[in-house]
Amino acid sequence: MNEIRPSRPNNLDAFWMPYSDNKYFKGTPRLLARAEGMHYWTADGQEILDGTAGLWCCNAGHGRREITEAIQKQAAVMDFAPTFQLGHPIAFEAASRVAEMTPEGLDHVFFVNSGSEAADTALKIALAWQKARGQAQRVRLVGRERGYHGVGFGGMSVGGIGPNRKQFGAQLPYVDHLPHTHLPAQNRFCRGLPEHGAHLADALENLVALHGDTIAAVIVEPVAGSTGVLVPPKGYLEQLRKLCTKHGILLIFDEVITGFGRIGANFGAERLGVTPDIMTMAKGLTNAAVPMGAVATSAEVHDTIVNGTPAGIELFHGYTYSGHPLASAAAIATLELHRAEDLPGRARAMEPYFEDAAHAMRDVPGVIDVRNIGLVAGIELEPRKGAPTARALDVFRWCFDHGVLTRVTGDIVALSPPLIVEKPHVDRLFGTLADAIRAVPA
Ligand SMILES: Cc1ncc(COP(=O)(O)O)c(C=O)c1O
Repeated sequence: MNEIRPSRPNNLDAFWMPYSDNKYFKGTPRLLARAEGMHYWTADGQEILDGTAGLWCCNAGHGRREITEAIQKQAAVMDFAPTFQLGHPIAFEAASRVAEMTPEGLDHVFFVNSGSEAADTALKIALAWQKARGQAQRVRLVGRERGYHGVGFGGMSVGGIGPNRKQFGAQLPYVDHLPHTHLPAQNRFCRGLPEHGAHLADALENLVALHGDTIAAVIVEPVAGSTGVLVPPKGYLEQLRKLCTKHGILLIFDEVITGFGRIGANFGAERLGVTPDIMTMAKGLTNAAVPMGAVATSAEVHDTIVNGTPAGIELFHGYTYSGHPLASAAAIATLELHRAEDLPGRARAMEPYFEDAAHAMRDVPGVIDVRNIGLVAGIELEPRKGAPTARALDVFRWCFDHGVLTRVTGDIVALSPPLIVEKPHVDRLFGTLADAIRAVPA
């Protein structure tokens, strides 16, 4: 038998950290050891106010007893069961609970384990649907500049953030991109939806003119998060919806960030009043206590594929852990918390206070834009001369060392606290951020 070696907590070598400056981290480790409510605690006991709900995912706050107990209970009853040609009740229950929350008509739920898998699954379902309805020539997928749809080959290819793609050579073929919606000259320091930019959706007409009837789907985030919080211009999503319907193209909303109360409604689709054909989700679905994602589709998409197959497997796609019992238990408990505590309503009620605090950052030297919706804010900094992104990274580190967790992308600081955030937390988040921007070199 192999000898079990004791763990070596002081050795940081083996873990190749994702999306990280490994060399910097391992020289200056910042280790999180415990979490509860609105806070983390570092390994050496420092309290850190969580301004980012982990990675936009612990929407109900950390260490929620109801979720922990549901996971523990399920682990004792049945640790794992396959969902290929078999089932277990809790996965069906979790799917029904998700379908109760999604917008009317998006009632069929395919489980995955992450946002990346949700994006790739949604794209594959779109291609399968086009084929099932006799449009097999529709193989082209359209994303948007500055979009983020995770790190699988599908999501990466339709994504539009340069550094996420440039290391990896070949992308999926037959992919095109809409322009992003960031118009700082017209929309700077806008509260909520910007006035200008609806016309940018018309770029889809140009892509249809170019590619004819070969486009299967368009995928966008209702509010682009990872690129630094881009709120859709008024009328933009409505126009995209109209054009997709007109041209037989499926509209996919990637709601991995915007789902589960983040922008003050169950989903971005609900808040923004536009319903896609397919919707992806992850993160807040289980409050991140167990990894889980999902894809919700319309009956039209589901039935065309499922009922259109005379017998046998209808969709040759799925993951060993699709509908994993522990994740299903976590999802049910999380959605129950959302309902019982009206977390989307709480976010909506806190939004004006959060928005005022975010826009007060305008007076801090070096802040060149503030964008917000729900409990998400992006604060953009003037980049340091000759060293783009360095200033925001310094701000991130200064905030952490002073007890506040923020998130940076490029020279944009994003804040997205758990939806249980209270006014004193909001004051502290933005107060520390303002101090950090003043403290670090411009
Ligand atoms: C909109 C969106 N889609 C997909 C993903 C990828 O999710 P994951 O990291 O769980 O694969 C993210 C992650 O931030 C995201 O914001």
